[in-house]
Amino acid sequence: MKTDHAPSSVRALTVHAPRAPLSGSVHVPGDKSISHRSLMFAALARGTTHITGLLEGEDVLRTADAMRALGADITREGAGQWCVQGCGLDGLREPADVLDMGNSGTAARLLSGILASHGFTSVMTGDASLRGRPMKRVTDPLAATGATFLSRQGGRLPLAIAGNANPPPLAYRLPMASAQVKSAVLLAGLNAAGETRVEEPVATRDHTENMLRHFGAQVRVEPMGAGGRVITLQGRPDLVARDIVVPGDPSSAAFVLVAALLVPGSKVTVRGVGLNPLRTGLFTSLREMGADLAISNERVEGGEPVGDLTATAGALHGVDVPATRAPSMIDEYPVLAVAAAHATGQSRFRGLEELRVKESDRLAATVALLEANGIKVDVVGDDMIVHGTGGAIPGGGLVETRMDHRLAMSAIVMGLAARKPVSVDDTAFIDTSFPGFVGLMNSIGAGLAA
Ligand code: S3P
Repeated sequence: MKTDHAPSSVRALTVHAPRAPLSGSVHVPGDKSISHRSLMFAALARGTTHITGLLEGEDVLRTADAMRALGADITREGAGQWCVQGCGLDGLREPADVLDMGNSGTAARLLSGILASHGFTSVMTGDASLRGRPMKRVTDPLAATGATFLSRQGGRLPLAIAGNANPPPLAYRLPMASAQVKSAVLLAGLNAAGETRVEEPVATRDHTENMLRHFGAQVRVEPMGAGGRVITLQGRPDLVARDIVVPGDPSSAAFVLVAALLVPGSKVTVRGVGLNPLRTGLFTSLREMGADLAISNERVEGGEPVGDLTATAGALHGVDVPATRAPSMIDEYPVLAVAAAHATGQSRFRGLEELRVKESDRLAATVALLEANGIKVDVVGDDMIVHGTGGAIPGGGLVETRMDHRLAMSAIVMGLAARKPVSVDDTAFIDTSFPGFVGLMNSIGAGLAA
């Protein structure tokens, strides 16, 4: 089976600084985390769920295909408008073929929790990036459900799961800050009689908790220690279809907003961005760097806080980002590193160990992105130190994006802010999370070759 992009679909790009400032007001696609969960939870509920604003990126389309293969009836009714006829909690059926999760760790890890607690056998695979990512972080805790897992060495995909329809409830303390692992354990608990309990020493994004509640589950969240949480889920809930409005993805808005902060004279608004406090660490860090980032029109939509963000270009200075903030901006470090390269003075990002196991080793790939473009970077333990140029990023490098969408978009932002053009080896993976990125950037004046 061929799941990687064929070489013919590689899309190289050379990015020049635009001749004029960026300006305009745009919407970014729907939140990736919420989109995956919408399809999965709607498939587990009884009845019909209508989803508005679903991200139609490749990652989420893989989840839609997988949930269809497991028996849910999923139809696209218009742009971002999807309808899911759920199967009920016990209603999923054995898939007839291997489930291909493409590039998506979220899809693979969350689905593992669901599949571990269903009484049939399934096999998951993914593209070369996903097949290289660790799955033991979910299969280790999920083994206590009585499910059996057979994987390649080091717990890598392809992964076969023989689930147990009558799992005991789990109690698990997360050894790493991961919403994906937390979610996998909670989802296995849906089919368990009794209380599933997850302790997280540092709070991670809470979309699973919020959305399971929205569908009718009883989920309790209590504070634990300094910044941690204990989450308790009552098993075998009656999940009932409920409509969902997906907010704009703050992790996608990040690229547009940082580009506007760095290209002199720019002013850009991104409307309808999700502002869940467990996702907004980047915006806090940018403000600490002196960024002019204004929030207006704050409201609650579909149970999530949402607002319009306006970025106005201006000088930035270095920042020290504490490790405790990492989970709330884990996907934003590559683009924050570009902002730090542009800033005056040194920036230090602490506690980046989880970056090593993303779509690429994002710590190494971000260092390579910066160094290829004339920026001095140090890695000390799990910290990254970026030496800013005071608005004078040399550029001129070739960035290897390593099947990683966020690397590709960060490289494009760097090219818009650099003195010499930045070449990007492949932008095709941007479609996993931000279809239409190049066109959207051009609509605000980026002048990227389409
Ligand atoms: C996600 C959690 C994060 C994040 C990923 C989406 C989620 O991963 O990097 O893009 O939707 O739960 P970890 O929880 O493994 O840090």
